[in-house]
Amino acid sequence: MRPGAVMLLLVLLGNLMPPFVTAQNAGFVKSPMSETKLTGDTFELYCDVRGNPTPEIQWWYSEINRADSFKQLWDGARKRRVSINTAYGANGVSVLGITRLTLEDSGTYECRASNDPRRNDLRQNPAITWIRAQATISVLQKPKINASDQIILPADSPGVPVTLHCNLTTAHTANTVHTESFWVKNGREIANTRTEHRTTAYRIGKPRADDSGEYMCVYTFEMAPNANATIEVKAKPVITGHKRSENKNEGENAMLYCKSVGYPHPTWTWRKMEGTSSTDIDNSTGRFFITSRDNYTELNIINLDIDTDPGKYECNASNAIGTTAEITILRVRSHLAPLWPFLGVLAEIIILVVIIVVYEKRKRPDDIIDDDEPVGPMKTNPTNNHKDKNVRHRTTK
Ligand SMILES: *[C@@H]1O[C@H](CO)[C@@H](O)[C@H](O)[C@H]1NC(C)=O
Ligand SMILES: *[C@@H]1O[C@H](CO)[C@@H](O)[C@H](O)[C@H]1NC(C)=O
Ligand SMILES: *[C@@H]1O[C@H](CO)[C@@H](O)[C@H](O)[C@H]1NC(C)=O
Ligand SMILES: *[C@@H]1O[C@H](CO)[C@@H](O)[C@H](O)[C@H]1NC(C)=O
Ligand SMILES: *[C@@H]1O[C@H](CO)[C@@H](O)[C@H](O)[C@H]1NC(C)=O
Ligand SMILES: *[C@@H]1O[C@H](CO)[C@@H](O)[C@H](O)[C@H]1NC(C)=O
Repeated sequence: MRPGAVMLLLVLLGNLMPPFVTAQNAGFVKSPMSETKLTGDTFELYCDVRGNPTPEIQWWYSEINRADSFKQLWDGARKRRVSINTAYGANGVSVLGITRLTLEDSGTYECRASNDPRRNDLRQNPAITWIRAQATISVLQKPKINASDQIILPADSPGVPVTLHCNLTTAHTANTVHTESFWVKNGREIANTRTEHRTTAYRIGKPRADDSGEYMCVYTFEMAPNANATIEVKAKPVITGHKRSENKNEGENAMLYCKSVGYPHPTWTWRKMEGTSSTDIDNSTGRFFITSRDNYTELNIINLDIDTDPGKYECNASNAIGTTAEITILRVRSHLAPLWPFLGVLAEIIILVVIIVVYEKRKRPDDIIDDDEPVGPMKTNPTNNHKDKNVRHRTTK
């Protein structure tokens, strides 16, 4: 066959073959990335490989500058600090994790993948049958920071100033250069706290419950990862928002909430007050729903019952330092409540009608006599021959 004919045949075959049969060489979708880490930290490397059939993935390691001496890594190696999780689906996806890093974990980590049927044949050169992607992990000694112990804000004498201290006592190595430090509260940098000193302090002038939280001093370095130390400032929870009362009609839904400041975040409970004590909410009807997250809790009562639901509900915020509670009064009105003004008018009309009817009935026999009779005190005239009737008439009014 001439080359042109071969070409044509290949094109035809390619088009006739359904796509899922088409073999595809392994190729990286995502390959591991080099990183610098500190002792005691954790790292994870990702490898995502496509191909048909789905490629097999392996992880290999060599010490820095020993690229000739790669050794395969296994799940559970290095005293169980190494974990390898691989899933084979449309792609092969693998995650290598190493925890509690030591300086000896520095080195070159390699993701190898292959779907070549000869890949495990020892006579084949692996460099041909496997594709490879490398990442270099450098582990540095974690810098030492001497930081204040945790602080508990006193609830009885609020406003006494507190100061948090950090002192960078050793950097990663003798020649890593410290550039700056700053303070972070609950994950957010506190403005105007950047300094270039190795010791840094943060003063809380008049501490209140919402000054409690997770504080951190962070040191930055040239060419090395940040180092940080955490100082917890704890306070009893204070409920900063809640409904004093909720007024609803029976059959409607009620929503009660409480929000708090104070660290650590409280655990929330809702109870119902019976006199001076409180009891667990009776949820036998399945109408009570509580959702709580960190500093907020919500109690939803659906399809309100006028007999059992009204009363005082207490939300209780409780953490390691203390506990507080607030009360919401729930009032439930009858369905008929909106009708009352109308019913009142209706009742008045009925009463009036009844009075008129009674009056008319009693009056009827005397109608003709009464016709031209004057009204008022004049009726009491002793000479008047209708005196008896007049007295009776007045008493019916
Ligand atoms: C850390 O600081 C405290 C007070 O600032 C000091 O008493 C302690 O000796 C320091 N510790 C170290 C290891 O430097
Ligand atoms: C910070 O630590 C260094 C080294 O341990 C020490 O010499 C220095 O006095 C400390 N500074 C403060 C303010 O504690
Ligand atoms: C604080 O240090 C930890 C551990 O080294 C690190 O994972 C984290 O990202 C650091 N946080 C900040 C804000 O630098
Ligand atoms: C509650 O916590 C969230 C994040 O955890 C925060 O954004 C919010 O401001 C807090 N609310 C109060 C009242 O402290
Ligand atoms: C009340 O019961 C309902 C239905 O069984 C349930 O979904 C809900 O979580 C319960 N609420 C509470 C506060 O236990
Ligand atoms: C709140 O709940 C805690 C734990 O359930 C309890 O010890 C505490 O007395 C409650 N506080 C109030 C104010 O009800």
